Amino acid sequence: MNPKKIIITIDGFTSCGKSTLAQDLARELNYLYIDSGAMYRAITLYFLRNHIDWTKSGAVKTALKNIELEFTFNPETRRSEIFLNGENVEYVIRDLVVAEKVSEVAAVKAVRTFAVAQQRKMGKQKGIVMDGRDIGTVVFPKAELKIFMTADIMVRVERRFKEMFARNPNITIEEVKANVEMRDYIDSHRDVSPLRMASDAIELDNSNMTKEDQLQFALDLARKKLRA
Ligand code: DC
Repeated sequence: MNPKKIIITIDGFTSCGKSTLAQDLARELNYLYIDSGAMYRAITLYFLRNHIDWTKSGAVKTALKNIELEFTFNPETRRSEIFLNGENVEYVIRDLVVAEKVSEVAAVKAVRTFAVAQQRKMGKQKGIVMDGRDIGTVVFPKAELKIFMTADIMVRVERRFKEMFARNPNITIEEVKANVEMRDYIDSHRDVSPLRMASDAIELDNSNMTKEDQLQFALDLARKKLRA
């Protein structure tokens, strides 16, 4: 095993398959996988449940003091699952009610400061794959390997639809498309840490790639960095 450890960041638009690639890479390299989007989703869930008005900075500041986030590896699903104040919320945070509001919450400066500080702590020992929107630009600007994922909009909508339909058969493709487009827009137009490709990131368009193709592509890049 290579004793050298690096930080790998995977950023990109919603439903590009970032988490699939990040999890596969982490498994192959025996690295820690962190889904930074899950943190913004868990914070959103807390705000919704507790009727916190995230446009009010005082309310946000107080609420954040009461939020504790933790990731625990589940050997059955082979995923790190997120806990919000001790409760496993890995599945509820994927619901449309959260998806509809998460981009607004993720655009709040205090929320980002709170999440980014925890993300940086998790990367201290390196040996981590983290996916999100600003991981290569803001969280780990010195990461050794940065990947920026893209895919055709309809490919992304269909992927997200399949995922959401499995949990909610009433959902329509139009609803999913509207949500994906809205999130892309907010994520890339917000004032704080908008979604951007880092100048030293490598672009990966996986519209016509299999899961195995994209893993091989990223593994080759990671191994090159590990040999350097
Ligand atoms: O990756 P995801 O769809 O689970 O992310 C949920 C939302 O969180 C997404 O709309 C953008 C936001 N996000 C962010 O602003 N920064 C990150 N590093 C990760 C996610």
